Amino acid sequence: MANDAEMNRFIDNLMGKMTLEEKIGQLNLLPGNDVTTGAVMNSPLAQLIAECKLGAVLNVNGLDKVRELQEIAVHKSRLGIPLLFGLDVIHGNVTIMPIPLAQSCTWNLNLIESGAVVAAKEATAQGINWNFSPMVDVSVDPRWGRVAEGGGEDAMLSGLVGAAMIRGYQGDFSNENMLACLKHFALYGASESGRDYNTVDMSRLRMWNQYMQSYEIALSAEPATIMSSFNVVDYVPATANKWLINDVLREKWGYKGMLVTDYASISEMTDHGIGDLKTNAARAMIAGTDMDMCSNAYSKHLAALHDEGIVADADIDRACRRVLTAKYKLGLFSDPFRFCNPKRLTTDIYTSENRKVARELAAQSFVLLKNNDNLLPLRKQGKIALIGPLADARNNMPGCWSTADRPELYSTLRECMQKELKGKAELLYSQGCNVYYSAAKQSAAAYTRNIPRVDDKEARNEALKIASCADVIVCAMGELAEMSGESASRADLSMPDAQMDLLKALASIGKPIVLLNFSGRPTVMSWESENIQSIMNVWYGGSETGDAICDVVFGKKSPCGRLTMTMPRSIGQIPIYYNYMNTGRPVGENQQKFHKYRSNYYDEFNDPLYHFGYGLTYSNIEYTDLSIEGENIRVKIKNTGAREATEVVQLYVHDVFASIVRPVKELKAFKRVTLAAGESQIVEFRLTPEMLSFRDANGNNVIEPGDFEIMVGPSSADKDLLKTTYKCKQPK
Ligand code: BGC
Repeated sequence: MANDAEMNRFIDNLMGKMTLEEKIGQLNLLPGNDVTTGAVMNSPLAQLIAECKLGAVLNVNGLDKVRELQEIAVHKSRLGIPLLFGLDVIHGNVTIMPIPLAQSCTWNLNLIESGAVVAAKEATAQGINWNFSPMVDVSVDPRWGRVAEGGGEDAMLSGLVGAAMIRGYQGDFSNENMLACLKHFALYGASESGRDYNTVDMSRLRMWNQYMQSYEIALSAEPATIMSSFNVVDYVPATANKWLINDVLREKWGYKGMLVTDYASISEMTDHGIGDLKTNAARAMIAGTDMDMCSNAYSKHLAALHDEGIVADADIDRACRRVLTAKYKLGLFSDPFRFCNPKRLTTDIYTSENRKVARELAAQSFVLLKNNDNLLPLRKQGKIALIGPLADARNNMPGCWSTADRPELYSTLRECMQKELKGKAELLYSQGCNVYYSAAKQSAAAYTRNIPRVDDKEARNEALKIASCADVIVCAMGELAEMSGESASRADLSMPDAQMDLLKALASIGKPIVLLNFSGRPTVMSWESENIQSIMNVWYGGSETGDAICDVVFGKKSPCGRLTMTMPRSIGQIPIYYNYMNTGRPVGENQQKFHKYRSNYYDEFNDPLYHFGYGLTYSNIEYTDLSIEGENIRVKIKNTGAREATEVVQLYVHDVFASIVRPVKELKAFKRVTLAAGESQIVEFRLTPEMLSFRDANGNNVIEPGDFEIMVGPSSADKDLLKTTYKCKQPK
């Protein structure tokens, strides 16, 4: 890759030749959906490209279409500036990885990076060179459908997951890499009531201490681009928020890359109620927003705003330079067709190596929530009844925000189990029920076309019949793919009605049941946790879900996923998160009863159903001997069970007395350790000043002397943690 001086010379030279209109053209990003379905030549998009009025296109499907558009840009436009082609390749392209929330539950950053490498390889083989991923918006509200796309409720972990993905996508900008786009800046995950696109309002202290760190950490992986968010921050939409974009992102954090708006967010500012398109084009540009996605605000109004002296040459030049820099870094100026090699369509997509990564990621993402009497792993013998509308649902498996348009490539859970059990055990199958009783509710989800509508009564009778003659029942139930992701908020997080009724009926038979809960978010499973023997959350595991479930259910692999979002007992507990503040009236130890004039509910416990960081293995890990010497923290862990297990050792810190109120605990470090049966190991962490600090209202680090509680264990639940105290004498 050329050095910066060479790049700057090239861009100076190019910009020296560009007219104002051509510069504005570079700031325009429009969808290519029309050319995907129709002819490229003579399309309105092709014309805009030839006239230098477009810098990038999104959602173009098909390498031939990408190539045709790029040819117009390179050969027919005056200066031949190549285009960026953007797409949301959020968890894989044809080989589909688990949804990002599930990936975060692996706590395995290297593996997550490998998944992103595969995604980039497959997407670039199809001409895509710009990925609108990762999303690192912290959220403490599982009603919000987009928690599926993020790395959970902890800002540090979510930022690390995002950074791993950015490294995987961008690599060293080879032909198999693409630009990453870190999103959505900022605070989108804090939308009120979990309703998508809703208002966000919070104190600066909460911003800095609970939300901003995810972006800051992900920025350390140097994403070439960032996307602003739809929501308001301090009552100004993020896209026009000068404090956020200029003061924080550019000046405080030193971000030099390009910032693109989210879809139509400049035009949406009119609905927010802060002026017409022209006013908002000016506001966005002055705030430091470089590229306009789908509002046509810059293309329509920037030239006039410039002539009227509202927007300066320098503003437009700066934005244009950032767009050209991203293109240069990607190598598009040296070879605009580097992502247009048709041979790769046959060699790089859905290969066995790619699928291996997806299968491993999926297996590691499953979180075993309950496993009474070691029901799992199942033995391959006798009769196994597989029941539920998601057991044979090919189109549903990739999950939300999937770019997969070839589901016929994938095997369903039923097919994988059949293959796995052949000659060893008998697999009985029944769909058992509809997803919802209401056809309208069910068909609102676009990916459900291969889940047939069944007669409620007949289906249930069939399921009960096979269940009664089986040795064990495996239920594949939960959410449809479309029930999570963008614009998929839910106000009720329990199992959809028809499935819940069937599960209850099956439980009354008295046979052991394994519930595989498919979901894009933490759901409410209070009844299930009391009445079902084994529960494993399998999220949306991607294209290799079926095989990955077999790997874990039949014991070839041990489950090792840990929750990265708290699972509530009931919807009324939301927002719920592990790093809460104690309040002046905490309940204390005895959670099991109501305490008048304490901070609790008359009709619900404060504790969640399953804590952040929680997840079982097929073994048992014992924690002892937590010690702290200087800055070195040590803990002994021993596998006292009979099987190998991978443990996620978690370190939490609590600032006991501080000048501002601090959370009861915050995750500061973690290590994944694999132990054979009987094996033990000393796990070490180093306490850094950073781990003891918090942010003030200006986002600056503060360290105060005093006592810090250091906690180590297998989850964030108090009962799971060993504790010791560290005295910080000198602020460093
Ligand atoms: C989403 C973004 C996405 C963009 C382009 C928007 O609706 O909020 O996350 O990248 O569309 O598809």
